[in-house]
Amino acid sequence: MDSDLSLEFLRVVEQAAIACAHTMGQGDRHKSDQAAVEAMRRVMDTVPIDGTIVIGEGERDEAPMLYIGEKVGMVNAKDIAGTRPIRFTEVDIAVDPLEGTNLCATGAANAIAVLAASNRGGLLHAPDLYMEKLVVGPSSKGIVSLDAPVHENLRAIAGSLGRRVEDLVVVVLDRERHEKLIADIRATGARIRLIGDGDLSAGIAAAVVGSGVHAVMGIGGAPEGVLTAAAMRCLNGEIFARLVVSKPEHEERCRAMGITDFKKVYRSKDLAPGEQIIFAATGVTDGALMRGVRFFGDGIRTGSVIMQNEPHQIRFIDSIHVASATDVKIHF
Ligand code: FBP
Repeated sequence: MDSDLSLEFLRVVEQAAIACAHTMGQGDRHKSDQAAVEAMRRVMDTVPIDGTIVIGEGERDEAPMLYIGEKVGMVNAKDIAGTRPIRFTEVDIAVDPLEGTNLCATGAANAIAVLAASNRGGLLHAPDLYMEKLVVGPSSKGIVSLDAPVHENLRAIAGSLGRRVEDLVVVVLDRERHEKLIADIRATGARIRLIGDGDLSAGIAAAVVGSGVHAVMGIGGAPEGVLTAAAMRCLNGEIFARLVVSKPEHEERCRAMGITDFKKVYRSKDLAPGEQIIFAATGVTDGALMRGVRFFGDGIRTGSVIMQNEPHQIRFIDSIHVASATDVKIHF
């Protein structure tokens, strides 16, 4: 996969973020999501790839766009060369056009537009189930376990970061299912940030020193888990994850995706095994690592992160999308 594609994917997430940012605070999460999906789908077809959606908006019959298995990229364009078809690089793509639909609909922090791309077969085809997750940064990845008691993991994380357990900040989705987890964390004295949505952007923050997040714990979406893994492959952090398979129907959905070991603990390299990974995200609303979309009359400003493992590069990108007027003023 050509690393120049990273800038192409930047355009895709920027346009998805801009589209849904217009709906911020309107209280309609479906409208926000739809705006992001439509923009992402439209721009994706201008990227020179033979892309296949492996994590998307759902199955073909429930999602008109960006459904699993859908072909995206310039491979869809007819007669580009006029005469014979061009061969594009085959790329598997995981998308979440708007991660945190409620966050955008209410104008809360940390909504992002996001995608990950890899060479074919480089991203696990995960069913849209829940997943137990533990996400930590580079210093802590070799010393924690999904099955260890909470107090042991937090003591290990604190030790690896040279601080007290009481100084840690653990992000947890504010859900009833996390009642015991939250009580266990509180019992250690560690600090907790309960979030309404968005365990993917919290996971990215956990792997960036100075973000103020030291771990993410709890159960969230499996698709978000695969996207988190792709980010971890670039940031040297780690996600430990296990699918929550509690009904025969879940087992069937796993089998349909080729998963037969329902108790497997996945790490980043299992969820995103690709040799080449590109991860792109743009802030929709303000967040820990990226500012949200700002509209300023003459143009639009976006904050994004583009990461890749090969060549290994993390770029924080501040873009100004200038309106086509001649006297536009650019501010630093
Ligand atoms: P959406 O963007 O689809 O609204 O999902 C946001 C999210 O909070 C994810 O970050 C998280 O993994 C998942 O939903 C948790 O699911 P649930 O809201 O069912 O607990």
